Amino acid sequence: MQAWNPSGKLAVVTGASSGIGRCLTTLLIQQGCRVIAIARRQEKLHSLADQLAESSAEVAALLIPLVGDVTKPADRQRVVERIDELGGQLDLLVNNAGIGGIGPFQEASPERLRQIMEVNFFAPVELSRLLLPRLSSAQDAVLCNVGSVLGHCAVPDKSEYCASKFAMHGWTDSLRTELAGSGVSVVLVSPSTTRSEFFDSLVETDSKMESKSVGSWSAQRVAGAALAAIKKRKREVVLSAGGKALVYADRIIPGIISRILSRK
Ligand SMILES: NC(=O)c1ccc[n+]([C@@H]2O[C@H](COP(=O)([O-])OP(=O)(O)OC[C@H]3O[C@@H](n4cnc5c(N)ncnc54)[C@H](OP(=O)(O)O)[C@@H]3O)[C@@H](O)[C@H]2O)c1
Repeated sequence: MQAWNPSGKLAVVTGASSGIGRCLTTLLIQQGCRVIAIARRQEKLHSLADQLAESSAEVAALLIPLVGDVTKPADRQRVVERIDELGGQLDLLVNNAGIGGIGPFQEASPERLRQIMEVNFFAPVELSRLLLPRLSSAQDAVLCNVGSVLGHCAVPDKSEYCASKFAMHGWTDSLRTELAGSGVSVVLVSPSTTRSEFFDSLVETDSKMESKSVGSWSAQRVAGAALAAIKKRKREVVLSAGGKALVYADRIIPGIISRILSRK
C-alpha cells in the first residue's frame, strides 16, 4: 500500500495554536494539505497565518483557522459545517488538543478531573463521532489520536491526566478494530515529555509542582514523528527512548516500576 500523501488532502487538527498541533499543521500545509486548524486563542491562529504567509500566499491559503473550544458541541458542529462547505470529504483528523494537571489526587477538586476528561477524552471522542462519516467517504483516511506515554504507564501526581490518556488509548484500540477494512486507519501517537506551552496551562496546579523534562523532545520533532506515523498508517508509536523504556519496562516488570515510581 502506498504511503498516505498529504498533498491535495483536507485535514482537521485540534489544538493547532501551539506546540505539537501548530508544528503538525505547518508540516501538513508545507506538504500541500489544507488544514482546518482549531484552537481557542484567535491571536495564536493569526500568528500562525502570518508565519505561513512568509513562505507564500498560496501556502497561507491552505490554512483554514477555526476559533473554537473542542469541548463545546456547537463549536464541534461548526467543524462539520466547514468541512461540508469544502466538499464534505475529510482525509485526516488529528485529535491533538490536550491539557494536564499535576498534584495528588486527594488534594484536587472534582473539577480538575472533569476539565481534563472533557478536553482530553470526551471532546476527541465526540468530534470523531461527528467526523467519521466524512472520513469514511474519503476511502483512504486517517484518524490520529495524540495520546501520551502516560496512557500506557501511569505515574503518581498525574492521576486525572493518566486516566484521560488511558481512556483515549483504550477507545483508540477498540475503534481501530471496529474500522478495520473500512478505509479509515486509526493511529495512536504517544509522545513523552515535549517542550511546548503544555506546562504553562496546567489545571489547578501548584507552581511548585514541576514536571521532569529530562530528554524532552521539541514539539517540531514530535510533529515530524506523528506525520511519519500517519503516512505509514502505523497503529501505534511511542516516542523518545525514555518513553519507550518506561512503557516497555512497565509491561515486563510492572511491580518494580511501580516501586520505583512510588519512591518520590
Ligand atoms: N507536552 C508534553 O510533555 C506532552 C507529552 C505527552 C503528550 N502530550 C499531548 O500532546 C498534545 C499537545 O500538547 P502540547 O504539548 O503541544 O501542548 P500545548 O502547546 O499546550 O498545546 C495544546 C493545544 O491544545 C489547545 N487546546 C487546549 N484546550 C482546548 C480546547 N478546550 N479547545 C480547543 N483547543 C484546546 C491549545 O490551544 P488554545 O489554548 O488556543 O485553545 C493548544 O493549541 C496534548 O494532547 C498533550 O496531552 C504532551
